[in-house]
Amino acid sequence: MCASVLTSWNESSPDLKVKKDNTLELFTIKEASEWASKYLNKKVTTSNISYLIQYGRIKKIGSNGDTFIVKEDLIKYYDSYLGKREVEWKERLGDDLNWTLSFDNLKESDTTKHVHRLHPYKGKFIPQLVEYFLDGHTDNFKKEVYFKKGDVVLDPFCGSGTTIVQANELGMHAIGLDVSAFNALICNVKVGKYDFLDMDFEIKKISKALKQFIAESNTIKFETKLTQDLAKFNNKYFPSPDYKYRVALNEVNEDQYGGEKEKEFLPVFLNLVKEYNIQLKQNKCDSFLDKWYLQHIRTEIDFVCNLIKQIKNPSTKKVLSIIISRTVRSCRATTHSDLATLKEPVTATYYCSKHGKVCKPLFSILSWWERYSKDTLDRLCQFNNLRTDTYQICLTGDSKVIDIFGELEKKNPALSGLVKNQKIKGIFSSPPYVGLIDYHDQHAYAYDLFGFERHDDLEIGHLLKGQGKEARNLYVEGISDVLINCKRFLVDDYDIFLVANDKFNLYPIIAENAGMQIVKQYKRPVLNRTERDKGAYSEIIFHLKARQN
Ligand SMILES: C[S@@+](CC[C@H](N)C(=O)[O-])C[C@H]1O[C@@H](n2cnc3c(N)ncnc32)[C@H](O)[C@@H]1O
Repeated sequence: MCASVLTSWNESSPDLKVKKDNTLELFTIKEASEWASKYLNKKVTTSNISYLIQYGRIKKIGSNGDTFIVKEDLIKYYDSYLGKREVEWKERLGDDLNWTLSFDNLKESDTTKHVHRLHPYKGKFIPQLVEYFLDGHTDNFKKEVYFKKGDVVLDPFCGSGTTIVQANELGMHAIGLDVSAFNALICNVKVGKYDFLDMDFEIKKISKALKQFIAESNTIKFETKLTQDLAKFNNKYFPSPDYKYRVALNEVNEDQYGGEKEKEFLPVFLNLVKEYNIQLKQNKCDSFLDKWYLQHIRTEIDFVCNLIKQIKNPSTKKVLSIIISRTVRSCRATTHSDLATLKEPVTATYYCSKHGKVCKPLFSILSWWERYSKDTLDRLCQFNNLRTDTYQICLTGDSKVIDIFGELEKKNPALSGLVKNQKIKGIFSSPPYVGLIDYHDQHAYAYDLFGFERHDDLEIGHLLKGQGKEARNLYVEGISDVLINCKRFLVDDYDIFLVANDKFNLYPIIAENAGMQIVKQYKRPVLNRTERDKGAYSEIIFHLKARQN
């Protein structure tokens, strides 16, 4: 690249450090793609380079339509962790991997923004993925705009409501459907409108009542003493951070040492239980709430639930139901490392490999209740400040058969009128996969708490049906039926986007069954699914339209 341009840029871009001897090498986007292809010994397209610029991975220099890139920047990127990961993943998953859809430029706080972190839910997609397909931008991959403000979007597998929340942000109306009544509650709380003063008042009232209730029990004294004794013990035997450092160096046999110390502390715990007359387990074991909660926690849960039942304002009542549900989830009697996959109820102190010390089960819900109350109010306020004046609702029902217009008429007449008039523009959804998640069971505590009816049998791709041939056939039938049913409510020239991990290649048959055709596939890398699972993994966003005969 000619060095003459450097002088002028050097003046206009003071942050650009040009080597004194003017040896800084600059590339156009095309030159950069050619150079990178040679450097990596694999094809790097001009859109790959544009992506790096767009997401701030490398600096763009130039103005008036000329774009140049510093070679050093490219080298730094391709030698960095992010750069190497992109190259490695493409090697494993194919060059058609659309790195734009990795969203590797986002922080956790972006992907869990405002109401998206109102309640845990296993299997949600990130809001930015929805935005990408619903918003008005185009790029090298998405060459058309599919939805505009005022359109109606449908998500027949609404889950925790990511699509309908993002539709609101983008000025679109949205209808969600979910077979699980609890999921529909999460969704509707996210998009609801609230009297924040009333909510704050009710939260404070319940928190005060709970504190008084606990103050009268022995448990608080017991837990204070237990916490003190445990702190002394842990300081002595698990000094931080030395202990973890020694474990990392394999100087300590963690299983053996942790096990020994767990046993050593147990009599201290049991003596305190006796001294303060604490009942650990509940007397019955009929339901999830009976089995997975210590007696005192259960008493507090029932106490708060009774107060929530008495709240007059129905919207406030729903929000507080979500707060207690989130609290209850965090208070299950399990070890810190088994939170995601419950093993056995834990009723005594135990060695915790996650924290590298002896930990104790929870004996009160108060701290979680207070933390989640504040967090929920904050998040709802944040969303309230950017929400648009549009309609969103999640209906409970089986998407294979639900009469969307009929149900809407009962639940939201204003939206019903609008939808009948203009029909639904398209779908953005992530269907359940074959035999992967039990969507009812992940919130088993909530079904006990609120008495919602469970419809596990209607769940498509239910975990317990497995992934065998029969399960796959049922899956194809189920998703096809949903598309056929929903088609009735869509405009003729609809656009459907389905995010799927189609490892069994079922979507071509599903599209065929539903009278649709797959017009495009976006292959998206899925980064950091869980702490333990960092392997290369991709999913596809299928774009379907009506089949042209
Ligand atoms: C992958 S999740 C959707 C997650 C969602 N995209 C989000 O971000 O939260 C699939 C959802 O489909 C729902 N589902 C399964 N079978 C259904 C059916 N027959 N009718 C309606 N919903 C169903 C499950 O309850 C689950 O919530």
